[in-house]
Amino acid sequence: MFEQRPLSAWRTLSLDRFLLGVPHYPEHVDESFLERDAVRIAAAGFNVVRMGEFAWNLFEPVAGRYEFALFDRAIKTFAAHGVSTIMCTPTATPPRWLTVAEPDLLRMTASGAPHRHGSRQHVDTTNPRFREHSRRITEVMAQHYRSTIGIIGWQTDNELNTSYSESFSAAALDEFQLFLIARYGTVDALNEAWGTRVWAQSYNNFSEIDLPYPHMPVAGNPSQVLDYHRFLAHATAMFQRDQVEILRRINPDWFVTHNIGAIRDLDMRGPLASDLDFVGYDIYPFLFDERLRGGHAYLPAFHLDLVRGAAGNLIVPEQQSGFGSQPGFATPVPEPGEMRRMAYSSIARGVDGLMFFRWRPAHYGAEIYWMGVLDHDDIPRRRYDEASRFAHEVGRIAPEILGTTVRIDVGIAGPDFDNEEAAKSYSLGLPTPQEAAMPLHRYCYEQGIACGFVHPEDALHRLKLFFVPHWMLWKPEWTPLLERFAEQGGTLVIGARTGAHTPDNHMIQVTPPGSLRTLCGVAVEEFGPLPAEGAPALTAIWGLSEPLASKPAESGKRQHVISLGEARIPAAFWYERLVPDDGTTVLARWDSRFLKGEAAITQRAAGRGRVIYVGSFLTPALTASLCDLLLPQAGIEPLVAGLPAGVEATLRESDDRRLLFLQNTTSERVEVEGLPAGFELIEASSVQHGRLHLDAYGCAIIKLTSCTSAN
Ligand code: GAL
Repeated sequence: MFEQRPLSAWRTLSLDRFLLGVPHYPEHVDESFLERDAVRIAAAGFNVVRMGEFAWNLFEPVAGRYEFALFDRAIKTFAAHGVSTIMCTPTATPPRWLTVAEPDLLRMTASGAPHRHGSRQHVDTTNPRFREHSRRITEVMAQHYRSTIGIIGWQTDNELNTSYSESFSAAALDEFQLFLIARYGTVDALNEAWGTRVWAQSYNNFSEIDLPYPHMPVAGNPSQVLDYHRFLAHATAMFQRDQVEILRRINPDWFVTHNIGAIRDLDMRGPLASDLDFVGYDIYPFLFDERLRGGHAYLPAFHLDLVRGAAGNLIVPEQQSGFGSQPGFATPVPEPGEMRRMAYSSIARGVDGLMFFRWRPAHYGAEIYWMGVLDHDDIPRRRYDEASRFAHEVGRIAPEILGTTVRIDVGIAGPDFDNEEAAKSYSLGLPTPQEAAMPLHRYCYEQGIACGFVHPEDALHRLKLFFVPHWMLWKPEWTPLLERFAEQGGTLVIGARTGAHTPDNHMIQVTPPGSLRTLCGVAVEEFGPLPAEGAPALTAIWGLSEPLASKPAESGKRQHVISLGEARIPAAFWYERLVPDDGTTVLARWDSRFLKGEAAITQRAAGRGRVIYVGSFLTPALTASLCDLLLPQAGIEPLVAGLPAGVEATLRESDDRRLLFLQNTTSERVEVEGLPAGFELIEASSVQHGRLHLDAYGCAIIKLTSCTSAN
C-alpha cells in the first residue's frame, strides 16, 4: 500500500505551483487546431490542460489494440509551449465493443433494466470483471506515459457516481455479500447488527442476503439500506484504489486526484480521498436554480466547505465558464465578470488550482450548448479575456496563496457518511445532518463569519464554536473529543437527536443523548416531529436539498414556538422536551401548547467553555437569535463588520500571513468599509482608510498588515 496523508480540513496541497488551465479534448477537433490551441492556452496564462477522460474508444479502438498517437502529439505540442498535462483514466465511458462482448458489465437498475451504451457511467464499477478492465487500461496507459514529458499527474475516472451510483446487478449482489462477510465475519453478527428478529428477517448464511430493493413491498430494513450505501461507497473507493495503486507504482512522481461531482455514495473521509494526493471538486454554480435553491453564489460555497471539511485544500478541475446545457436542461448564463468572480470565490474557500470547463465547446454530441472558454467559431471573446485576466493575476500572486488554509471560527460537524446515510435510511421527513447544517452555515456566509465543516476527529482546538447538527449515529469515542474542546474554552452546540443511535443504527437503551448526557447536562424525555407547515418540501439535487426556511405558523395549526429572550420563534421539524440536570441553565423555553414552559435549549458550563443543547432543528430565525446570544460570548465577530449584502468574506492564513478575500456576487458596485489595514494584492495597492470599492462581480485579496487578527 502507498502512503496516505491523514485527512484534515487544514491539509494543504503538495504542489509547488497554482494549477491554472482547461480541460481539452483533442479528439473533438481537427488536429490542425492543436498548435494554435497551445499558443493561446499559454498566452492566456494557463499552465495545465486535462485530457483523456472519455477517450477509451480511441486508446483501445478494438479489444487489446492500443493507440495513443493523437494524444501523444497533443501532450507534446502543449509541453512545447510550457503547458503540462493531467491525464485521466477513461473508465467513465467504456467502449461499445466491451459491453457488446460482456453485457453483464452494464449497471442494473432496481427495476431490472440494464443501462445502455450511448451515455456515460453506464457500466457497473462494483463488478470485478469491470475492475479487471479498468486495471488493464490504466496499466497500459500508465506504462505508455511513464516517462512522457509534460504529464504531471492523473485524474481517476470522471465524477464517480455523478450520473448514477446504485447497481442491482448479479455482480453487485455477490460483492455486497462479500462486503458483509468482511464487515461482520459471521451471519449471527449481521443478524444482530441488522436486528433481523423484527419481521422474521433472520439469515442462516450470507448467500441468502439480497440487495435492498425499493419495493419489498413496504419499508425494508434501514440497517440493510445503510450497509448497501456503505457498500457502494466502499466499492467506489476500491475501484479507484485499483487505479491509484497502478499509477503510483509506475511513476511515483505523478500526483493523483479525482474530480468529485455529485456527492453521491462517496465517503469523502475514507480511502476515496485519503488514497489521493488531493481531491478535486467540480463547480457548476448555475446548475442550481437561484430562486429555489439559494443561489449560484451560496451553494458552491456550501459544497466547497463540505469537501474541504473532509480532505482540506483542493483543486477545481472544472468550473463552468458560460452557458451550460445537455438535452434535458439549460442553465442561465454567467454575466460578464462572474466567471472570474466564481473562480476567486473558490480560491477564497481553499482551492489551490482551477480549470475552466472547457477550452472550446463541442460541435456535436450531448453537450453542444455547453460553452467553453472559446466559442464554436474559435474566436476568443469575453470568456477568454476574463479567464486570461484571472490566470495572469493568480499566476502573479500564487506564492502568497499557496501554503495558506481557510480560517474557521464556527465549525460544523461534517461530512460524515454514516450519519448522512443513516438519516436518509429512516428520514422521518427531517433534513439530513448536512441539510440541517445549512441555516447556520448560510448565516455565517451572509455575515462574513469564518465558518466551515470539521469532523469531530479533526483539530477542534482551532475552532471557537462547534455545532453538531443532529448526528444520530454516535461513536462513544467522539464524546471525550468534544469534552476536551469545551473544557478548553470552546462553545459546543449539540443539535436534537445527536447520540440517539448506536454506530449500528440501533436506538440506544438509555436516555438520550446517551453518551453525551453528562457533557450536555440534559435528559431528552420526549420527542416528536413537528407539523410540516413550517418546512418546505425537500427535493434532492446533487445529494442536497434546498436550504431550509421557516414560515410563520398559520393560526390554528399545531405549531410550536420557542421563546428565546425577547424573540418568539416558530419551531420546525422536531421538538424535544428537555429535563436539565442541576447546574444546567435554560436558554430558551417552549412557549406553546402542551410544551409551554418546558426547556427547549439548555446550557451547561464545562471547564472554560460551555455546552448548549438545542431540542429542535435550527431554522434561519432560530439560528439568528441563537447566534446573537452565543457568538459574542464565544468571541466570534464577522471578518468585516457591516459587510454589504452579497459580498463574500473569508480568510486564508498561515503562520506568517493572513489574506482577506472579498468577492462581490452582485451586479452592482459596492463600497466595503471597516477593513483592516493591508495591501490589496490583485490591484497591488494599499487599502486606504479601511475602505475599498468592488465593481460588479469585483474581487479583492487584502494581505493584512497585522498577522494576528482580521477583526
Ligand atoms: C461535468 C462533467 C463534464 C461535463 C460537465 C458539463 O459534470 O464532468 O464532463 O459533462 O459536467 O455538463
